[in-house]
Amino acid sequence: MVLNNPVADVPFNITRLSHVVLTSRDLDATRYFYESGLGLEVTEHSAECLCLRAIEEVGHHSLRFEKVAQEGPGVVRAIGYRMFSDDDLRRAFDWFAARGDSPEWIERPFQGLTLRITDAVGVPVEFNASMPGPENRMRHFQTHAGGKLVYLDHVQIATHNVQGAFDWYTELGFRLTEYTATDGTDELWGVWLKRKNNTQDVVYSNGAGPRLHHLAYHTPEIANVIHGADVMAALGLAESMDRAPGRHGIGNAFFVYYRDPDGHRVETFTSHYNVIDEDHPPTRWDLSDTRRSQIWGFPAPKKWFYEASDFDGVAVNPPQLDAPPVTLEEFLAKG
Ligand SMILES: [Fe+2]
Repeated sequence: MVLNNPVADVPFNITRLSHVVLTSRDLDATRYFYESGLGLEVTEHSAECLCLRAIEEVGHHSLRFEKVAQEGPGVVRAIGYRMFSDDDLRRAFDWFAARGDSPEWIERPFQGLTLRITDAVGVPVEFNASMPGPENRMRHFQTHAGGKLVYLDHVQIATHNVQGAFDWYTELGFRLTEYTATDGTDELWGVWLKRKNNTQDVVYSNGAGPRLHHLAYHTPEIANVIHGADVMAALGLAESMDRAPGRHGIGNAFFVYYRDPDGHRVETFTSHYNVIDEDHPPTRWDLSDTRRSQIWGFPAPKKWFYEASDFDGVAVNPPQLDAPPVTLEEFLAKG
């Protein structure tokens, strides 16, 4: 395990997680789940795509679903991050090219200049600095519905090479806030990495990967997380709950998880904390300490640990660490 120090002199400024591009077999079913259930706003719905965003977001979308015909679970086509300006994007393109990576400019509807690259563990990543959208609903309180989700906060990605991902994102200016390591032997199991003010924009954790474990929307009140679950149940979506409410030790989040109609996992949560100051050290958790996953609440079911969304056309590697978690099934079997 090597705990990288933050790198402050990166020649471009990544500001935060921006959006996720996923596939859907049925855009109407996806819309029902995210708009009627969780309360996101639809900003585009055509035969080919569905775009959604949360209450405080000023950009056009934080989720983009692309319609696919084939059967089977949905896949992920890109993890999007924002840079501060188009000049940052141009400097990043030159920086990636100079070190032998293969950056490319791509066209994305509703986005300005967009740079695409593959990260160290095979994840397709895109960066943009502009995504003009209509006025958001922040002060239109009469429209706040479902889980009253305010912004896309983070993604968690399973990978066979946590250290490799950590090294790659450190060079881009991401900073470690919390991490999990094996007891005694100090092998990295997971890293919580951030650009914005709080604990994480992206988490890389040990597992068969790369696969997207979940995306997560923030809401400011625990009552909103619970009300969202009530609304989902009232709409016939109760069985989409993938993990019951609890509180993570890592990140301090009060959470509920769902699976959307294509199997993509979504967390609604509150209670992350600020990490800003230079002398705020990362928090270590031993892998054996189950409080990292829940301070209170039942352990997650087996499917929560082992099921995730593939990236489109990207081969999945077996995990480097053999570290089986404590599952709900094992917990209940003990009686
Ligand atoms: Fe999360």
